[in-house]
Amino acid sequence: HKQLTIGLFGFGVVGEGLYKVLKQTPSLKASIKKVCIKHPGKKREAPAELFTTDRDAILNDPEINVVVEVINESDAAFEIVSRALKSGKSVVSASKKMIAEHLPELLELQKQTHASFLYESAACASIPVIRNLEEYYDNDLLHSIKAIVNGSTNFILTKMFEEKLGFQDALLLAQQLGFAESDPSLDVEGYDAANKWTFLLTHAYGITVETSDLVFSGIQHVQAGDAEVAREKHYDIKLVAQAKKLANGKVAAFVLPQFIRQDDHLAFVKNEFNGVVIESGFADKQFFYGKGAGSFPTASAVLSDLSALRYEYKYEYKKLYHHKPHELTDDFFVRV
Ligand code: HSE
Repeated sequence: HKQLTIGLFGFGVVGEGLYKVLKQTPSLKASIKKVCIKHPGKKREAPAELFTTDRDAILNDPEINVVVEVINESDAAFEIVSRALKSGKSVVSASKKMIAEHLPELLELQKQTHASFLYESAACASIPVIRNLEEYYDNDLLHSIKAIVNGSTNFILTKMFEEKLGFQDALLLAQQLGFAESDPSLDVEGYDAANKWTFLLTHAYGITVETSDLVFSGIQHVQAGDAEVAREKHYDIKLVAQAKKLANGKVAAFVLPQFIRQDDHLAFVKNEFNGVVIESGFADKQFFYGKGAGSFPTASAVLSDLSALRYEYKYEYKKLYHHKPHELTDDFFVRV
């Protein structure tokens, strides 16, 4: 198979994780040639000559055939990803906010090149959720999806309500373990989950929606008292992203904290784990479960995208182009 020569953008939790993971997977024949970073002064556990602050050192290098983009700023990420695709380099990205903001444009760009654009790591980290959504014969068969897609808020809820930690201590721990966004309000107020939900809705139902048009909230209004009431009645509180196909063919979708029965699959999802429950025709109910945040779990999804690029052909999420797109309902008071 093809040798992958990688230009890596970002050496934070995910970038460094990938660097270590690739060292342990030599059979993939993927090597990082250059890493573009913002702050050259920081101490990093990798040879100094690997690093550059010059984007062009990667984007103009004809030997680099894959760009892995795992940086924080979504505007810079968009510029890097679009330039890479335009120059025919395949891209693997973990930038969920950027993907939520620009997916249609990026798919259009991808269509015009031989390059591939993959982003399995951008939602649910270690769970191959996008690839699984590709596997349903038809959107119409997908009755509903119910998921926990943000590891930090799930971690905080678990620590607060099962281990009696205060909110600030739980958040601090999530930050120290590398689960939280650098601006943790993105996690806490539901933006990160809603961003991921927009493109998972695209993959599930062909829906194009902006995050600001989605009904969502985070865990910022959840109180200790709510959890006590919930637990007395054998429920947990989880931040749940949900989508359901209605009888009229439209889809109801939102991200909200919910009471989840303690015998529900999602109640089993604790700490930084994520979970996805899909109900579909013929297959009935399926439950996908795995770590949704953190260095190696996220790098594992980048690794699976890289392994998809090993072969000579272009790797595309085909369902996006071939399945009938559904519409979101604007009836918020619908019963799901
Ligand atoms: N902050 C994100 C989360 C990281 O907690 O889920 C993984 O996307």
